[in-house]
Amino acid sequence: MSEAVIEKVDNDGMVQLTINRPKALNALNSEVLAALEAHLVELEAHPHLRGVVITGAGEKSFVAGADITEMRDKTPEEARAFASQALRTIKRLETLPVPVVALVNGFCLGGGCELALACDWAVASDNAVFGQPEVQLGVIPGFGGTQRLPRRVGPAMAIDLATTGRKIDAQEALRIGLVNRVMPQAELEGYVEELTNQLKGNGPQAVRSAKQAVHDGLDQDLNSALALETSLFALCFAGGEQKEGMSAFVEKRKARF
Ligand code: HXC
Repeated sequence: MSEAVIEKVDNDGMVQLTINRPKALNALNSEVLAALEAHLVELEAHPHLRGVVITGAGEKSFVAGADITEMRDKTPEEARAFASQALRTIKRLETLPVPVVALVNGFCLGGGCELALACDWAVASDNAVFGQPEVQLGVIPGFGGTQRLPRRVGPAMAIDLATTGRKIDAQEALRIGLVNRVMPQAELEGYVEELTNQLKGNGPQAVRSAKQAVHDGLDQDLNSALALETSLFALCFAGGEQKEGMSAFVEKRKARF
């Protein structure tokens, strides 16, 4: 039997998805996208989901982009269908109700960078390489990069990267706010474990609401977004988490969520 193109490990609600096409540097073809979407549909119904980590197999590459070999002979209609499949899948990842962490271990280019941009966190190895090199292939980013990149790093840097196609190293990615943390590759998995344990120690509904407030608020004007925050804040007092969290503080013990 051939190996799964996406590997899933569920550690008590903290799910790691590994894109497993290392020979092609984990390039995203239709098969990988379909498998990823199937996993995401499953995760949407996961009763105890606490967080998702997404990464690429091997130490050389997170994802080196959409699959160029598959795209080469596409007609405009086929290209539109391919981009739509990817956009839908990446949107599913972005809108999971829990934090999503991109563990970036090497090349993070084109569609790979666009995948990372849809994650709440990006943690990168110090040898990671980022870029939107599509213009060098005669196309533009089609997995959301022209829209999520400026929202993450600002329009000037987004236009710089999307029109030159230049690659940047992990330190520059950190400086422009494309990633949250950079560290030696050997420390990357340990750090992500620490991060996910930290997330798991917090009130699960509070973590979901914090993500929802930030994401939904960004699509609204400031006053509406502030009203959304107030509603979500008030809702925290309707469940048991707030009583437990605040009682634990007062009683000088660790909260048990
Ligand atoms: C298909 C790819 C690939 C890709 C690498 N490979 N990237 N196959 N699509 N995006 C394959 C190579 O063909 C090669 O296969 C194997 O992976 C190893 O890659 P090498 O090039 O030999 O490795 P190296 O010399 O280390 O160079 C690494 C690299 C280079 C710098 C990352 O592979 C590269 O430039 N890749 C393309 C990056 C890119 O342009 N990405 C954007 C794609 S467009 P063989 O069989 O020869 O061993 C995109 C658009 C999204 O993402 C929107 C679409 C709607």
